[in-house]
Order: sequence, then structure tokens, then C-alpha cells
Amino acid sequence: MSGGRFFEVREFAEVDSTNRYLLAEARRGAPEGLVAVADHQSAGRGRLGRRWEAPAGSSLLLSVLVRPPLPPDQLHLATAALALAAVAACRRISGVEPAVKWPNDLLMGDRKLAGVLAEVDPGAGDVQGLAPAVVVGIGVNLTFRGPPEAGGTCLSDASGRQIDRRSLQEALLEELEPRRAALDHDQGRAELAGELRSRCATLGRKVRIHQVGAELEGTAVDLTDSGHLVLDTPTGRHEVAAGDVVHLRTVNAPGVVTPSGPGQLY
Ligand code: BTN
Repeated sequence: MSGGRFFEVREFAEVDSTNRYLLAEARRGAPEGLVAVADHQSAGRGRLGRRWEAPAGSSLLLSVLVRPPLPPDQLHLATAALALAAVAACRRISGVEPAVKWPNDLLMGDRKLAGVLAEVDPGAGDVQGLAPAVVVGIGVNLTFRGPPEAGGTCLSDASGRQIDRRSLQEALLEELEPRRAALDHDQGRAELAGELRSRCATLGRKVRIHQVGAELEGTAVDLTDSGHLVLDTPTGRHEVAAGDVVHLRTVNAPGVVTPSGPGQLY
């Protein structure tokens, strides 16, 4: 099938990982706009080296290859573009509107509905003078809520309807096209950051951010036009480009802060 003017869609009954497939294609010089969709992944990849498991046909499992002209510290705007396209597609097809947990989850309340994983292959940019490849993949729970301990949700539960996967896929690609184009210029990137600001469930929350070798706790107060999170902490204001975020909740007793629900577990 066609994914619109910009995208070429390849559909699989089963593949190990749609992200891995597109990274391999990128290394062979595939142009941007290539999309992989699977009914089932035998080795789906999640963030931080985790697996992403879902029964066949229970989720929208989709990855897209883009080659945006972004400096390395802004590449995560490609993640934002896909996450925001998915928010808009969910709204169009199911009538419910998820929020974005910075930098890359879709939430209904505190429950995870979808996860986004961006992977960059530094070697995949040199082929035929192409810009570096970024593969951004999303898993949207349609009828599967994720592993029980994760306390996730799915679009059928959230909307009270059966969701047609192909309709959601087509809407997502339609919504992605203008957001991908926005990555090409400063004004578009600022508009994308503005949209992220308006959909971001992390702003105003107390958060803990896990980074390689470091942990930061504070209140998320803003997003920059580069999509970085601005955090007020006891040691001052910090701008964070990436990290694994836990939304924290109320203070139970002096100094004791609990996570905001099972949705933060994955
Ligand atoms: C997360 O850990 O929250 C990110 C999960 C991303 C899963 C998607 S499913 C389609 C694409 N292919 C993969 O192997 N992973 C991503």
C-alpha cells in the first residue's frame, strides 16, 4: 500500500524488529521515507536495551527512516515528530487524545499507551552522500496493555471502541509528513517544540531523570525550542537533552516522594 507522497511502506507478518530492519536498509543506502510495519516482532526493541513484546496483531508496530538535517543534540526532535503524529492520529481515529511523557512515551492519564524508540546508525550516513539515518519506531497498544506489572493501557480500553490498525497507520503517516517537513527549518522546529509543550504531560511535574552515570531530580518547568527539558532542581536550573524520566507524585512525608503509578515502570 502507499503511505502518501513521502512514504514507502513495507509490511511484514513477522520480522525480528522493524527498527533493526530499517537500520540495515539505511546502511545499504535506503532513502528517507522508508517505513516498516509488522503484525508481530520476534525481537522487538524497547528503550535501554529492553525488549518490546506484543502478541501478533495487538499493536501498531511501525518504524520510519528519516534523514533530517539536525545536529546531534536535536535529533530527538525526530522522536517528538513521530510521538506528536501518533497523538494526532489517535485523536482522529479513536477520539481520545494521549499526552506525551517527555521524551518519548504516550500516556493516557498515568498509563503508558505507546513507546517510541529512536536509533541512529552513525555509519549509515556515509553511503552515497546521504544525511545520517535516524530510525524512529513506535509501538501503540491497540488491544494489549503491555506486561501486567507495567500497568499500561490500550487504545480499545481508552476509547471504548475497536480500533482499525490500518486506519491508525494511515492517519499516523499523514500526520507525520508535515511534522517531518518541519524538521528542515528553524521555524518548523520551534513550532514542533511548541506543539510538544502543549501536549507534554511532564511539564509542571516533579520528575527523576536517569542518565548514564547520573540522576537528577526536580520540577520540569519548560521545553526549549530544541525540545530539551528544563528542570528546576535544588542546585539550580538544568537543561536536559535526553534521559529516562520517572514522573513523581505527592510528598507522603517529609522527603518521601512516590512514583506516579505503574505507568512509569517501562
Ligand atoms: C519503549 O521502550 O518505550 C520504546 C518501545 C518502542 C517499540 C517499537 S515497536 C516498533 C519499533 N521496532 C522495535 O523494535 N521497537 C520499536
